Amino acid sequence: MAGNWKMYKTPAETIEFFERFRGLVEQATHCEIAIFPPFTSLAAAVEMAKGTRIRIGAQNIAWAKEGAFTGEISGPMIAAAGASHALVGHSERRQYFGETDDTVLKRTQAALEFGLTPIVCVGERLEERESGRTEDVLSSQFAKGIGGLTAAQFEKIVIAYEPVWAIGTGKTATPEIAAEAHRAIRAQAQLKFGKDAAAAIRILYGGSVKPDNVRALMGQPEIDGALVGGASLDAASFASIVNF
Ligand code: 13P
Repeated sequence: MAGNWKMYKTPAETIEFFERFRGLVEQATHCEIAIFPPFTSLAAAVEMAKGTRIRIGAQNIAWAKEGAFTGEISGPMIAAAGASHALVGHSERRQYFGETDDTVLKRTQAALEFGLTPIVCVGERLEERESGRTEDVLSSQFAKGIGGLTAAQFEKIVIAYEPVWAIGTGKTATPEIAAEAHRAIRAQAQLKFGKDAAAAIRILYGGSVKPDNVRALMGQPEIDGALVGGASLDAASFASIVNF
């Protein structure tokens, strides 16, 4: 169960969140929990998560180790801050910051090279779904953004399916729609990496996941977890999602 805070929370707000959140998920051993704060709150989050099962991740990762890449943060820097995960290819990065399948692949490879677990995001836009192109879009994002990994690398990633039309809109994909997309992604994984790898890969659903719909989504065997935006900003609400 992953919480993507997007561009919310200062270090002080991060500390306040963890003070409430830690106790609320103490008993949650049924799943992994990861929180993705903005870079400037990574250190505070790592400090507050010490001694708990909560893992911390970055929302993006540079493809290079270091160099003249103004505004980027590298894998070794993220790891040195104490984080263990990195989001890659979130639709907001694709939409506003020119992320492409090619840079998604490079960032994913960098995360793995520097010992971080990447959560690679894929998902179709509204007009793509409405014109019946969902599966084509998912296959193409998979082929170009994930298909370039080796089998050994593929085993270490997590995939998140986030239909763009469901992000921040309050429109959740129905559990059936989400499961269908997860099956399409898993089918791509099977074609490229084989049956066992496809069965083992974890696919999270993201897009308006809330305490009141998480149970039905998680009831689908195809859905292995959730990547939560807005509802992860409040400790009680994210805890009730974790404890679904
Ligand atoms: P919301 O849960 O706010 O729709 O955001 C989903 C998301 O983009 C998580 O990465």
